[in-house]
Amino acid sequence: MADIRFDGKVAIVTGAGGGLGKQHALELARRGAKVVVNDLGGAMDGSGGHSDAAKAVVEEIKAMGGEAIANGSSVTDDAGVARMVQDAMDQWGRIDVLIANAGILRDKSFSKMEIADFELVLNVHLMGTVKPAKAVWEIMREQNYGRIVVTTSSSGMYGNFGQSNYGAAKMGILGFMQTIKLEGQKNNIHINAISPVAATRMTENLMPPAMLEKLKPEYVTPGVVYLASEEAPTGAILTAGAGVFAMTRLYETEGVYLGEGGLSVEEVRDNWAKISDEAGQKPYFAGSEQGQKFFRKMMGG
Ligand code: NAI
Repeated sequence: MADIRFDGKVAIVTGAGGGLGKQHALELARRGAKVVVNDLGGAMDGSGGHSDAAKAVVEEIKAMGGEAIANGSSVTDDAGVARMVQDAMDQWGRIDVLIANAGILRDKSFSKMEIADFELVLNVHLMGTVKPAKAVWEIMREQNYGRIVVTTSSSGMYGNFGQSNYGAAKMGILGFMQTIKLEGQKNNIHINAISPVAATRMTENLMPPAMLEKLKPEYVTPGVVYLASEEAPTGAILTAGAGVFAMTRLYETEGVYLGEGGLSVEEVRDNWAKISDEAGQKPYFAGSEQGQKFFRKMMGG
């Protein structure tokens, strides 16, 4: 099969001044994409910021013969996001790919966490995904083409001590994806999620050096670039790290019909084994499939 290329395509990568985003931007450029390198350039907790990080990545792309522009806006800043998209349109006239990757951490156990830290992390990850997606959405609809990759985390899908704010944001991003994947279908807009594990400043204090060495961000990027390609599926959650690639799916068990009459708390307790029985469980592509199952079971099917 032919190599995956992005010639003539334009990609925006948020948070691409370092870590994973930088590798995604470089690989897209290597494969022919014109790239907007966005990064606020702040500290890991979201404080501070300057556009030097994004500019350095742009220089790297230019040095290898590619085309790129830097953008130092925060993904939460409406005017900055609008400028980022307008700059890409002015320069190249289209936007094919959005990789929503920017993010910060404010870890603390829930009992010690300030609501302000919860709101900030939700805002940067969730609204910082929604706002760039909204800003490119009509462009992608008009083009009848678009690929959006959002960035989730095992912390959101399964939990991680000290990351209730981050986990809520990362799962919120998946909820966002599940609906826009349906709304984007008729315009050939595919949305997928990456759940990475990589040695970056976000994780450098969490693992020993020998393990970090096996978790290069470059090992995640091929999965992201595939999800950004013409051949990408839609609605997939790809996990990637250390050269391993797998998929996460949300399954629902077949469940049990307990009838309308005589329903009680005890009936639910006494049927717990059937309710949670994994035999016949399925992933659904849309929420309506759950309702269809309810009616099928109610009708005795
Ligand atoms: P990183 O800290 O190296 O990169 C994040 C980048 O986003 C930084 O360059 C930062 O300046 C930028 N950024 C932060 N706030 C921004 C804002 N408001 N506007 C624009 N840019 C902003 O961290 P890493 O590890 O590369 O993270 C990338 C993404 O992957 C994040 O969404 C993170 O939550 C996610 N992730 C990373 C994991 C890992 O193992 N490294 C695990 C799971 C998810």
